[in-house]
Amino acid sequence: MTLRVGVCVSGRGTNLQAIIDACRDGRLDARVVYVGSSRKSAPALERAKAAGVPAEAFPPAANGGRDAAQQLMARRLVAADVELVVLAGYDRILGDAFWDVLGDEVPVINIHPSLLPAFGGLNRLAVHEAVLAAGVSETGCTVHRAHRGMLDAGETIVQRRVPVLPGDDPERLEARVLGEEHVAIVEAVALFARSAARV
Ligand code: GRF
Repeated sequence: MTLRVGVCVSGRGTNLQAIIDACRDGRLDARVVYVGSSRKSAPALERAKAAGVPAEAFPPAANGGRDAAQQLMARRLVAADVELVVLAGYDRILGDAFWDVLGDEVPVINIHPSLLPAFGGLNRLAVHEAVLAAGVSETGCTVHRAHRGMLDAGETIVQRRVPVLPGDDPERLEARVLGEEHVAIVEAVALFARSAARV
């Protein structure tokens, strides 16, 4: 059965696009049925609309604060009957109000632009700057389960490795990692789609 996926975003939405494209090409037995954003100006919302996916923004300032905004977003995800929630560049910690509404049945996964547990943090360019400052020869991306009260923690689902090259700056490194993120996020959703197919 086609997996019903909800995606939470805040920005440009290239990972969302990777999932939408893979669904459309038949590489994923899944369908993005709802997109929720923390920002009205997120280009990800346009990507969703272009693909015919219902998408809404819940800016905290206009929705009674972070918790009320996330509660509303969770209600929409539940109403859309999602079986998996993907945090794809969602820039806020999810508070209890979100988890209380979503419940324990629906898995939530997050994509992060480093080889966790190394180099956590919400700001992606700061992550790549920290990688370069540390002088490591390898970085990558991680898709992991997200749980109440945790940031950049939770069981690893997929990791992909990326070399750090001489002359890299945060933007160049980001571009290389992002290419692998698009593969990793599709691989991760595919794992859930396959397990949904078994039940
Ligand atoms: C990605 O680097 C992701 O790992 C991080 O935020 C960025 C989102 O990029 N959590 P995009 O909006 O999917 O293009």
